Amino acid sequence: MNRLNVALLCGGVSSEREISLKSGQQVKDALDPKKYNVKVYDPASDLARLVNDAKEIDVALVILHGRFGEDGTIQGLLDLLGIPYQCSGVLASALAMDKLMSKHIFSSAGLLVPRYVMLTKNASFDSIVERLGLPLVIKPADSGSSIGTSIIKDKTQFKQALDEAFKHSERVFAEEYIAGKEVTGAVIGNKSPYALPLVEIIPKKGYDFFDYKAKYKPGATEEICPARLSEALTKEVQRCALIAHKALGCKGYSRTDMILRDKKVYALETNTIPGMTENSLFPKAAKAAGLSFKDLIEELIRLALEDF
Ligand SMILES: Nc1ncnc2c1ncn2[C@@H]1O[C@H](COP(=O)(O)OP(=O)(O)O)[C@@H](O)[C@H]1O
Ligand SMILES: [Mg+2]
Repeated sequence: MNRLNVALLCGGVSSEREISLKSGQQVKDALDPKKYNVKVYDPASDLARLVNDAKEIDVALVILHGRFGEDGTIQGLLDLLGIPYQCSGVLASALAMDKLMSKHIFSSAGLLVPRYVMLTKNASFDSIVERLGLPLVIKPADSGSSIGTSIIKDKTQFKQALDEAFKHSERVFAEEYIAGKEVTGAVIGNKSPYALPLVEIIPKKGYDFFDYKAKYKPGATEEICPARLSEALTKEVQRCALIAHKALGCKGYSRTDMILRDKKVYALETNTIPGMTENSLFPKAAKAAGLSFKDLIEELIRLALEDF
């Protein structure tokens, strides 16, 4: 049997480069060399080689996060080169990368989203608090892994949070803080996507929220799968994850972050290329559904090559 030529894209130039390299290595290790001939391309240095090799590539696994990776740009290049890939296309990737555009899409699809206010570099704390209350979440519109995001409890923390967010984006917003249970909803499939078991996220003591350290420091966060929710609420949250996936026009897979308050589901954002280390949230959800890490990667390749 001929081996499938797989281009594994990882690294890149975003602030999530290190996470991407880690995921990429684990994805590579999971691919059986008898079935797959894997070549690794780092968009930070290997774009010309990717273009040159395009004719020999059967499928690409885009294991990149953030700007110039998860935002539709690489997806556009792969489209031009005629290389199929496992993640969403240009439009869905770009929409999901932008948390403000996502809010519009989510709302018009009937999902609840936290209220928000766009910020300028000299935004007034008092008028924002008047509208959204405290605590406040300050976020860059198009970053990931909580980079540039802060949760502030009073005025003394405002300026630093604002400066930090503007370091990572030109567009920054303040969001109403939703105190509740954080869950993430993995979805997989092309024509008939379905939701995997939910993962409940509980950052341990010392972490105010699911920030960069809580995300990547081993043991910093308790991740419970399936999430401890009633059957009815589980179904409702999974339904919301599916709505987000479909409304954005995602393909292959996605993972939507949500917070539950008073049995209401607030959609925060959708990740079109979720973290892919063996311990990441999406693989955890897949495992609870009986899909090992290796099976999951193979399923993503199958979906990438499926006509739909
Ligand atoms: N409105 C909110 N209320 C409470 N916590 C939030 C809110 N927005 C974000 N968070 C916390 O910040 C984390 C990161 O926010 P998120 O919108 O998922 O962006 P990203 O993961 O792309 O950085 C969330 O996982 C959650 O812990
Ligand atoms: Mg998130």
